Amino acid sequence: MEESKKNIVWHEGKVSYEDRCDNLDQEGLVVWFTGLSGAGKSTVAVEVEKELIKLGKAVYRLDGDNVRHGLNSDLGFTAEDRNENIRRIAEVAALFKDAGLITLASFISPYQEIRNFARERAGEDNFIEVYVKADVDTCAERDPKGLYEKAKSGEIKNFTGISAPYEVPENAELIIDTTKLSVADSVKKVLGVIISD
Ligand code: PPS
Repeated sequence: MEESKKNIVWHEGKVSYEDRCDNLDQEGLVVWFTGLSGAGKSTVAVEVEKELIKLGKAVYRLDGDNVRHGLNSDLGFTAEDRNENIRRIAEVAALFKDAGLITLASFISPYQEIRNFARERAGEDNFIEVYVKADVDTCAERDPKGLYEKAKSGEIKNFTGISAPYEVPENAELIIDTTKLSVADSVKKVLGVIISD
């Protein structure tokens, strides 16, 4: 057994996942948005969150830029750090799901293997992967934070799509092509999958 797990025993509570879901009148769910910087992950997730709140759902949004200010402020953008970033978020999202929340997670999450881990931790039936699709040239043109320009000049290293890889999802439940769909239409599509789930 791993040294860190020695002498640690799981403590069972008296309230089950089903009890929590009954109280909230909903199922816990993780909606995982993945895609390049500037593809529109956060834009869509923010609107989906707003609509779900209007519908009376208990929802919480986790976002790359925000989580990297706190929980993951010690991590950078090497492949190793990104995987650790996503590993921690996957655990947090799984806990939120267990609390009965609809959890919207928007992270570049460029590697398939760790996205699969996030799916595993939430449980296959409680996980929806949304590939927010936009080609790198379009994202670089949008460049809302001026990061692509800095990446191209070499000022930012390991930038996804420029100097670091992005593995296109193999098993996304939903693909949203933001080069073709408006924000409103993208939001409708995501809501359609969440509500029918
Ligand atoms: S990852 O790959 O999932 O760990 O990244 P994530 O936690 O989602 O953070 C992405 C945001 O960090 C900013 N940023 C960078 N992105 C990619 N590559 C590099 N090198 C980088 N440096 C800073 C950027 O604002 C990303 O936000 P989004 O919303 O995706 O544009």
